[in-house]
Amino acid sequence: MNHEPLRWGILSTGHISQKFARALQLAEGAELYAVASRTQEKAEAFAAAHGVTKAYGSYEAMAADPAVDVIYIGTPHVFHLENAVMCMRAGKAVLCEKALTINAREAEEMIRVAREEGVFLMEAMIPRHVPLIRRMMQWLQEGRIGEVRMIRAARCLRRDFADDARQVKRELGGGSLLDLGVYPISFASMVMGGSEPEETMGTAYIGRWGTDEQGAALLRYAGGVIADVSFALRTETVNDAYIFGTEGYIHLEKIFAVPEKITLYDKEQKVVEVIEEKIKGEGLYYEALEVMRCLRAGLTESPYMPLDESLQIMRTMDRIRQPWGLTYPGEKA
Ligand SMILES: NC(=O)c1ccc[n+]([C@@H]2O[C@H](COP(=O)([O-])OP(=O)(O)OC[C@H]3O[C@@H](n4cnc5c(N)ncnc54)[C@H](OP(=O)(O)O)[C@@H]3O)[C@@H](O)[C@H]2O)c1
Repeated sequence: MNHEPLRWGILSTGHISQKFARALQLAEGAELYAVASRTQEKAEAFAAAHGVTKAYGSYEAMAADPAVDVIYIGTPHVFHLENAVMCMRAGKAVLCEKALTINAREAEEMIRVAREEGVFLMEAMIPRHVPLIRRMMQWLQEGRIGEVRMIRAARCLRRDFADDARQVKRELGGGSLLDLGVYPISFASMVMGGSEPEETMGTAYIGRWGTDEQGAALLRYAGGVIADVSFALRTETVNDAYIFGTEGYIHLEKIFAVPEKITLYDKEQKVVEVIEEKIKGEGLYYEALEVMRCLRAGLTESPYMPLDESLQIMRTMDRIRQPWGLTYPGEKA
């Protein structure tokens, strides 16, 4: 096994890229080597703030640096495809923020390029790598709640977004489904072993930004398992998740995507087991470790967030969104 540190490049200097830089400082075996921005000034300011060796004033220049092993993409959803393809064509491994793309057609294209180039690609879906969620998956595999029958999960927040914020702007792939709904939908998919829902139905409120301010969906899987998911940009809710089985249920809190407490109940609603553990590096730390574990093992995708499953999740979100009449750049109205 190669014990040299892996040299990371961070593509873009926004909100999540800054958090990722802080998380990388905690990750053993990682070197935060480069950052790229659309402007040299921003790249240099970011490099100074986070102790990064190289600052590039264009994304392409960083991808062309042979010293970079792996690139983290933290741009708005509409740019993920273009940015990831450019990095992978330069031979780089890529960790791309969620949602992987704006739709399944783009996700298919991104995955095709990864396979063509033989490079590593993973959607940055934090919950897949959080220790308590891995523990919860073990409970399910051990049959601790019997057969799974229902799933309930929410990822909702209330913030006063500016009209040009990437979270709300249609041109940047804004809206609650792509930004937050992807978490509970991906969670349900993980619990269901990556299988695709047989039926989906959803509703949304398209607010003053022309994108979905909030929404909810029901997903029905083979065998009748039903997931009830909600997502919102202007409504704060409790943000936990439940998995109900024939012999008991599991509660994840709070926020379910980065849980610090999981509780196993029996069917009489008595507590059977509780596990608590603090989240490290806002959760981003765990996905960075998983990327490095995969790269050192010579894998081109992670078994915890397989590419075909990321594609299936994009297809599911396309199906949920289709009746709303909400389209993103490059899609037919
Ligand atoms: N995993 C999580 O917990 C988490 C949390 C928040 C967001 N995210 C995901 O991370 C991604 C970015 O979100 P964010 O909140 O960090 O966004 P943000 O603060 O708006 O930053 C996005 C960055 O992308 C770059 N960019 C390139 N073209 C742009 C354009 N035309 N308009 C605006 N920015 C552009 C900019 O960096 P330069 O100017 O330096 O090029 C900008 O700073 C999204 O995919 C989002 O879903 C994940």
